[in-house]
Amino acid sequence: MLSRLPIDIPQTSSEITAHWLTDVVQSSGMVTAAQVVGFEVGSPGSGVGFTGQTLRVGLEWDVVEDGAPVAVLVKFPSENLGNRGLSEAEGGYDREFDFYERFAHLVPVRVPRLIHAVRDPGPSGKSRKRRERLVDGLPAPVVKFIGRHARKLIRASHRRYALVLEYVPDARVTTAQTLPPPEDLAAILQTLARLHSHFWRHPMLSDSEVVEWSMVTQMPNVMNGLYRAWRDEVVARRPDLFTSRFMCHADWFSNNIERLVAHLDEPLALRHGDSRTDNILFTETSMVLIDFGVSGSGRPAGDVAYLLSETIPPGPNAREIFERSCREYHAELLAAGVEEHSLESFLVDCEVVLALQAYRAVLIEATYEADYEGESLAELWVPRIESLLTDELPVI
Ligand SMILES: Nc1ncnc2c1ncn2[C@@H]1O[C@H](COP(=O)(O)OP(=O)(O)O)[C@@H](O)[C@H]1O
Ligand SMILES: [Mg+2]
Repeated sequence: MLSRLPIDIPQTSSEITAHWLTDVVQSSGMVTAAQVVGFEVGSPGSGVGFTGQTLRVGLEWDVVEDGAPVAVLVKFPSENLGNRGLSEAEGGYDREFDFYERFAHLVPVRVPRLIHAVRDPGPSGKSRKRRERLVDGLPAPVVKFIGRHARKLIRASHRRYALVLEYVPDARVTTAQTLPPPEDLAAILQTLARLHSHFWRHPMLSDSEVVEWSMVTQMPNVMNGLYRAWRDEVVARRPDLFTSRFMCHADWFSNNIERLVAHLDEPLALRHGDSRTDNILFTETSMVLIDFGVSGSGRPAGDVAYLLSETIPPGPNAREIFERSCREYHAELLAAGVEEHSLESFLVDCEVVLALQAYRAVLIEATYEADYEGESLAELWVPRIESLLTDELPVI
């Protein structure tokens, strides 16, 4: 039985205290003597998240001290136990902590400054992997059963997690409902190329002690059990969205999952992992990448085609914009000194990622209680992904 740390760690806004906030900010060295005497918890203003609780905490200080932040950003895990269990099984919260503790100070792009990170210990990487292998190797009908009942069977842990970050004020984000202007997209692709090239094939990325989580999933067969258990129901529920062409790509991913997951996971680059526009803040002077809850290493197309699959307006021109953007990104990668990743293999990877996105859309519709202000995520994403798919399946 894993023990909890013998300290108080708030997990909801009502558990936050001025005392805790004082300790947290003082520990970062941003202030030395000033104390928090009042605070106000609100939403971050720029958008919503659904894997956790993300709070903007405005701070009132007893004395004026240079460097005392006006607000901090606090992240706690989700209170929805079903979502939380599914997230944790894929390293949901640990990945973000790992990123801030192990990489944030090394990346060549702006990310929020880490102020404080504390979490209860989890199982060792070795024992976790042993269990994952055991469960993932169970007979297909059992794995399908686990998949069907994943929300109940994959339990949330009792661990506590609290992450306190610099709050980036006056930032502009594009939410999932709206589409970013082309110049934003070009800037994001440039930033991704900078991030990816910086750690290209760095030995840290293939060290399982440093990057502990797989890019797509820890348990491909369990994920696929979930897919197989729900696929037909999802299609029957929304035949308008999940068309046969769409499902052809999703099923292809499903039928080849182990091979494709291993392929995408090849640790060429440090990957953001969730490169959606609502995880990218634009300020007057810079772009700030946030939300490293799915970060890890892998093939760069994972970030690039993922971003494009949710940002290109659906329609007859979508595919052309997609191809042009992929080429632009690749030119940036090349300019940053990465010469060994050919355009050809990068473009094939992008097709694989589109199939993965189709596959994910089915899973999202099936399992996640993810509502984007009334619209299901699948409803937003499927038409965008669909516009990018070709009639042929990728060949790898
Ligand atoms: N450091 C920050 N400064 C300002 N706003 C932020 C910051 N971090 C997150 N946000 C806002 O909160 C939203 C949710 O945060 P995010 O880290 O993406 O959580 P989730 O994992 O739930 O998606 C973001 O889309 C963004 O609008
Ligand atoms: Mg987010």
